[in-house]
Amino acid sequence: MSSSTSRSSSGPRAQVDPSLRVVELREAINFHNRRYHDLDEPEVSDAEYDMLVRELRALEAEHPELHIDDSPTQRVGSAPAAQFTPVVHLQPMMSLDNAFGREELAAWDARNRRMLEPGAAVRYVVELKIDGLAMSLTYVEGRYERAATRGDGRVGEDVTENVRTIAAVPKRLVTGDAIPALLEVRGEVYMPVKAFRDLNDRRNEAGEPPFANPRNSAAGSLRQKDPRVTQSRELSFWCYQLGAVEGAPALRSHWDTLTFLADCGFPVNPEIQVVDSLDAVYELCMHWQAHRHDLPYEIDGIVIKLDDLAQRSELGSTSKAPRWAIAYKLPPEERTTKLLDINVSIGRTGRATPFAVLEPVFVGGSTVGVATLHNQDQVRHKDVRPGDTVLVRKAGDVIPEVIGPVLSLRPPGLPVWEFPTHCPRCKTLLVRPDNESDHRCPNVDCPAQAFARIVHFGSRGAMDIEGLGEKSVGLFLDRGLLVDVGDIYALTGRADELRALDRYGEVSIQNLLSAIEGSKSRPLGNLLFGLNIRHVGGTVGQILAKAFRSLDALLAAGEPQIAEVEGVGPIIARSVVEWCARPEHRALIERLRVAGVNFEGPAAPAVEQTLTGMSIVVTGSLAAFSRDGAEEAITSRGAKSPSSVSKKTTALVVGADPGASKVTKAEAAGVPVLDEAAFLHLLETGDLPGPSVRDPGSDRVADLVPEQGAPG
Ligand code: IVH
Repeated sequence: MSSSTSRSSSGPRAQVDPSLRVVELREAINFHNRRYHDLDEPEVSDAEYDMLVRELRALEAEHPELHIDDSPTQRVGSAPAAQFTPVVHLQPMMSLDNAFGREELAAWDARNRRMLEPGAAVRYVVELKIDGLAMSLTYVEGRYERAATRGDGRVGEDVTENVRTIAAVPKRLVTGDAIPALLEVRGEVYMPVKAFRDLNDRRNEAGEPPFANPRNSAAGSLRQKDPRVTQSRELSFWCYQLGAVEGAPALRSHWDTLTFLADCGFPVNPEIQVVDSLDAVYELCMHWQAHRHDLPYEIDGIVIKLDDLAQRSELGSTSKAPRWAIAYKLPPEERTTKLLDINVSIGRTGRATPFAVLEPVFVGGSTVGVATLHNQDQVRHKDVRPGDTVLVRKAGDVIPEVIGPVLSLRPPGLPVWEFPTHCPRCKTLLVRPDNESDHRCPNVDCPAQAFARIVHFGSRGAMDIEGLGEKSVGLFLDRGLLVDVGDIYALTGRADELRALDRYGEVSIQNLLSAIEGSKSRPLGNLLFGLNIRHVGGTVGQILAKAFRSLDALLAAGEPQIAEVEGVGPIIARSVVEWCARPEHRALIERLRVAGVNFEGPAAPAVEQTLTGMSIVVTGSLAAFSRDGAEEAITSRGAKSPSSVSKKTTALVVGADPGASKVTKAEAAGVPVLDEAAFLHLLETGDLPGPSVRDPGSDRVADLVPEQGAPG
């Protein structure tokens, strides 16, 4: 998956309205949650994801008015997938807060000690954070009864039969004493690294796509309809926590709990230790940071838990995570390998990106053979040369990065790498505009660009044409079935030529053609994203679609008008106008129009007509609305919003620094005067303050309507 099709995960942008940014962040986080939890195909590294969540938390803390209950900061993971039966956990499955670095760990420890009784002894249990899938196992009268994934923390998915196939999961408890009536045990299902490598080898041989890392393959193995598939995957299990319990011996510490669980026959990780100082905790973190690969399974951090259960209750939990535990996140991994060559790829807008061709190396949970080098300056700055031994980092799971050369291992006389002067594909002279860091191939007919444009047009965030992936596009270009994006819709009339390729069965051809047909009705925002306009990503595509509501309106708009749209700005506006001005793009648009591709944007949101027949005047400035915004709020609900008060005025809304004459006039005419709170209430309900409106019998009007402020 190329990063251009990914959901925007860009960092905080200066001057962005926080109310827009939180929406963008929530959307991005929900998107990544789905990719991670439901599709097992994360697109960003854990570190990037954490940054998004942190930014959103910070914004929500700073702007309590932007809080919503449905924010991903209020949830754990994602909602359960539809395919498995939902299971309500007896006790919610919480997540863990993260600490990055020693300082954050120390802050957590200090807070614990502050909140506990002064001088209380504090012991921590230090565990490995197993990189697998959280699982809740339920035992009734000592028998394995159910297994459920975490889901959203409250409701998970029933995977009882699949988990039953995991040998490490006891089916019957072996405790000699009284068997607990009920036991809810939490732990991690994981795939050992060796099993993961073997599985990927088998998949490679079978021509199936490999899993990115052991975690994803464990998830994919559990998400099987047929438990026999799960069984073949060599999954294992470590337990680390108790949920609901009935009829078990009284437990006073976490260590006791783990001992009890081990006595019952559960696999408890042997590396767990109890320590009594933060220094000792940190030492263990450093130890595992250095030795994580000595383990036969993957870990992505260290979990530190307060040992004493009574102290745990004193600290309690937030809605998402306990205060008594924290995850120390391990930094992204680094490995060395040989830099075999530096090549340049040409992207859909002609951008020439150098990338490292590496001797394949297993890092960050998967094998890396190529890594981007971004641009000429980066290569120069890092001074990496073909033939070097280089340090490679893979942040979590996706984009691998070359950090730099290991100079001590550089062979003498290794020449500096020079950026190619010509496009590697069409041999056109590359250009690098002043003030830009990228080289570009200026030839719009460059086959490498056309390839990337077509693949992007059909990609998921754009027109989502299943079956039009890199392989097919490459083949169609080779065979002259496609030259550029405009040819895609002509494929529907060329089924015989597709058949003649002898590569696709009839079903695949029909599927492809119907996917192409289906893409004609994608929303305008997707089309704009798919058109390969520089700087128009998925989010900007949606913004433009919403602002202009049709492709023709956007085509007719001038640069200033586009630049005015919130979230767009002059650079994007120029890029859009320049793109639209080019004859080949005009021709493309006409071909798409003739093919019947949807050019219309989302209809204006249907607003309830709460104010039909009313006439509402606004004076002064309101906190939640601009002047135009207030007018829009009124007229979109069916009322008029004239600029002066008359006898026909239904109400006068008064903000800060109102026009005195309007207020006087309204009072003289007996027109109700509303403050902003009352205005908001009016917009929502259509009700004016006053006993007669809501409840004629009530003498407690104040309870029914927002307080009405005196006009200033
Ligand atoms: S304790 C209330 N211990 O990390 C505490 N979690 O982000 C619940 N994990 O959902 C978790 N190893 O999937 C705990 N030794 C360990 C763990 C562990 C891995 C995972 C688990 C959890 C996630 C928290």
